[in-house]
Amino acid sequence: VDVDPSAYEHGLVDGRPRMYTEMLEQPASVERALRGRLDERFATAHLGGLEMDARELRAVRRVKILGCGSAYYVGQMGASLIEELARVPADAEPASEFRYRSPVIEPDTLYVAVSQSGETIDTLLAVEEIRRKGGRVIGLVNVVGSAIARACDGGIYLHAGPEIAVASTKALTTMFVGFALLALQLGRVRDLSVADGRRLVAGLQNLPAQIEQVLSTEDRIAQVATALAEAESLFFVGRVRGFPVAREGAQKFKEISYRHAEAYQMSELKHGPLALISPEVPTVAVVPDDELTDRNVAALHEIAARGGPLVVVTHAGVDLGELQAERIDVPRNERELDPLLLTVPMQLLAFHAALALGHDVDKPRNLAKSVTVE
Ligand code: AGP
Repeated sequence: VDVDPSAYEHGLVDGRPRMYTEMLEQPASVERALRGRLDERFATAHLGGLEMDARELRAVRRVKILGCGSAYYVGQMGASLIEELARVPADAEPASEFRYRSPVIEPDTLYVAVSQSGETIDTLLAVEEIRRKGGRVIGLVNVVGSAIARACDGGIYLHAGPEIAVASTKALTTMFVGFALLALQLGRVRDLSVADGRRLVAGLQNLPAQIEQVLSTEDRIAQVATALAEAESLFFVGRVRGFPVAREGAQKFKEISYRHAEAYQMSELKHGPLALISPEVPTVAVVPDDELTDRNVAALHEIAARGGPLVVVTHAGVDLGELQAERIDVPRNERELDPLLLTVPMQLLAFHAALALGHDVDKPRNLAKSVTVE
């Protein structure tokens, strides 16, 4: 559904929380973020707003992504996409930390600032600092003409439409799409094959319908969320591609349910946090069907052995063996694009847990939609 932006100005939309309508809008917002940017013939993406030609894109030796909160977590997903598809070293860092640590600005690094509002002060000041030192920054920004969009050398508008709920949902999924398009374009001027380019183009085109499929499992996810809401404290775990999804899941959960939700790398559990696993502490695990599935399932057995209740967000066909777990299956896409589809159940889990606890999901306590002052 394409929602008329004026419907957002006041109060609930059709009597429903804005976060809810914004989650439901994701098939349409992802479609908008893709529109006109995919090139099937050359199996690539075209992002004119980058203001960079093929020669300049080939000269990029490193990508550094900066954002705050959930934008930083999607930045981590973006860094994996860029490393996997373009084979350029990439990482993400909270913009707030970056600007306080006197960073070295390198001429052959492409800096990427990611922000829904385009007004987050830490991200804006990081952009200004990089530019002052001669670095090139592109923005992945939703709000057209915002301060960050204006401060960057070029960029990609997300076209998510107005996002009002404090807990970001549809902007985040379009950020992921923005990173996938950037990775594809960077990859295709380097070593990414036509076959891989085609695979990714088709995968991206399938996303809107697949998000719709995930949203259609809402009732089942709501049931699981209502049970999770009873726990005072939860873990969210994932490995490599799944870890930023776990971080985003924990972030959304704590923002609106006010439960203590902590994200961990699956592989780090045994180095400490396993001590906290008990029947009172559930774990939400992100287990895509990929080269790491067996290792992930083995780690889940460690949790189960300590009596920890498990919710596994995974793909149909992943064999969990004897594990006692609630499972939530999402559709398969290309492995590189899995994080987007795995993120959508995280949003629904947080939303329904918060509803079950009777919280105002659109205006969580102590939080503002955008943090514009230091
Ligand atoms: C997301 O649910 C949060 N409300 C928050 O972490 C947000 O993503 C962050 O403050 C960054 O905002 P921005 O995208 O507008 O820069």
